[in-house]
Amino acid sequence: MRKFNVLIVGGGSTWTPGLLKSICVRQKTFSINRLVMLDVNEERQKTIGEFAKILFKEEYPELDFSYTTNKEEAFTEDLDFVLVQMRTGGYSMREQDEKIPLSLGVIGQETCGPGGFAYGMRSIKDMVELVKDVRSKAKDAWILNYTNPAAIVADALQRIFPEDKKILNICDQPENLLRSYGRLLNMDTRDFDPVYFGLNHFGWFTNLYDQEGNDLLPKLRDMILESGFRPVDYEQRDKSWLETYAMVEQIVRDFPDYLPNTYLQYYLYPDKVLKKLNPEHTRANEVMEGREKRVFEECKRVIEVGTSKDSHVVHNDAHGEFILIVAESIAYNKGDNFVVILKNDGIIDNLPKDAMVEVAASLTANGPRPYAVGEIPTFHKGLIEGQFAYEKLTVEAYLEGSYQKALQALTLNRTIVSAGKAREVLDALIEANKDFWPELK
Ligand code: NAD
Ligand code: G6P
Ligand code: MN
Repeated sequence: MRKFNVLIVGGGSTWTPGLLKSICVRQKTFSINRLVMLDVNEERQKTIGEFAKILFKEEYPELDFSYTTNKEEAFTEDLDFVLVQMRTGGYSMREQDEKIPLSLGVIGQETCGPGGFAYGMRSIKDMVELVKDVRSKAKDAWILNYTNPAAIVADALQRIFPEDKKILNICDQPENLLRSYGRLLNMDTRDFDPVYFGLNHFGWFTNLYDQEGNDLLPKLRDMILESGFRPVDYEQRDKSWLETYAMVEQIVRDFPDYLPNTYLQYYLYPDKVLKKLNPEHTRANEVMEGREKRVFEECKRVIEVGTSKDSHVVHNDAHGEFILIVAESIAYNKGDNFVVILKNDGIIDNLPKDAMVEVAASLTANGPRPYAVGEIPTFHKGLIEGQFAYEKLTVEAYLEGSYQKALQALTLNRTIVSAGKAREVLDALIEANKDFWPELK
């Protein structure tokens, strides 16, 4: 079995311990020769790196593992896969992304609306640098990217590196949803053959076929309408996530044709969702007090006791497993089907060719082979076109340093609508992001 060299960028991420655990669990199906982790934050990287040494000693002893904050050590010619999960500006900037819009009366969310706009304008620069760093050494390595807002990052990378066919942007939310359907239907997620279309954090499942070709979506819709919807791992989820999943019932009641991505709640019911958000205490605070604290405390405890046995540092298995089964499918040319983000190029007939869409594709060693979606209905097309225009203008605002395009982007966003409000929010975000954004003129 061929072995691969893997680099994790953002090795100090709160999601890394889960990914490392998945690497151990999947060592027989995805064989790694050398694993390196890179982060810009020495302290975060060291804590998770030292935890990893103990974990691997116990669960994957033959793995050649190291961690670093030195790019020279990380980017090497023999890399096969680069798994990316970085957060430019950290949680303190996420907090600003959420709180500034909320203080002005509009949705404040990490990837949707003006918060996603602000985060996107920060992520593009570091992601472009990352791609250049990887390509300066490893021309053929696959770059599998989780970094958010994935829709905007994907659009920017596609524009800047149009010939690069080995960058694949992915999101774990369709996978989380499929697992949640699986738990409801008492079925294995991998036995589903889903049809999905949209943009990242802005899409719908239209069909959910089983192995015999039966579409389970109508049954699933009835179950959701009858008894609501919860994440697969609801026992471990924070309250805000449970509320988000619960909103799926409302969306399906109003628009029963398809099953929505949970993020559509921000665009379809901004008024209702806004009432639930607390401008003084947002998801960033919940994460800093919850996941971040738990992950780092637990890693430190493991380092202190010197064993990872009985450690419960992993939350949400879907995240770590998903990026690895995607890598496996590419690495061993398995052609398994996953929902991923790709350049449209006719997959969805009546959407622009250059849109980065989220659809089902078979993943092979020669890249993704998407399944045609055909024409989509007017309602969804209208929503997607507005959102795509917003994303495109965001990337152009970044590339051209254009205040006008930034204003147009935010005015188009369904979470804002008013041009006056868009200007107010934009000006406040510019002020808060001085250290990160290009100057907008
Ligand atoms: P985090 O802040 O805990 O982790 C990010 C890490 O990246 C930090 O340790 C930080 O120091 C590091 N970093 C920042 N800039 C870097 C750079 N230029 N190079 C290398 N490392 C850098 O954040 P998190 O909540 O764990 O999330 C990590 C990323 O993964 C975020 O972008 C998040 O939005 C994304 N994410 C995406 C999905 C998805 O479905 N696409 C799911 C989960 C998380
Ligand atoms: C989902 C999304 C991700 C997002 C993640 C974590 O999995 O697909 O894009 O980063 O949720 O959100 P949280 O609010 O828990 O940090
Ligand atoms: Mn996502």
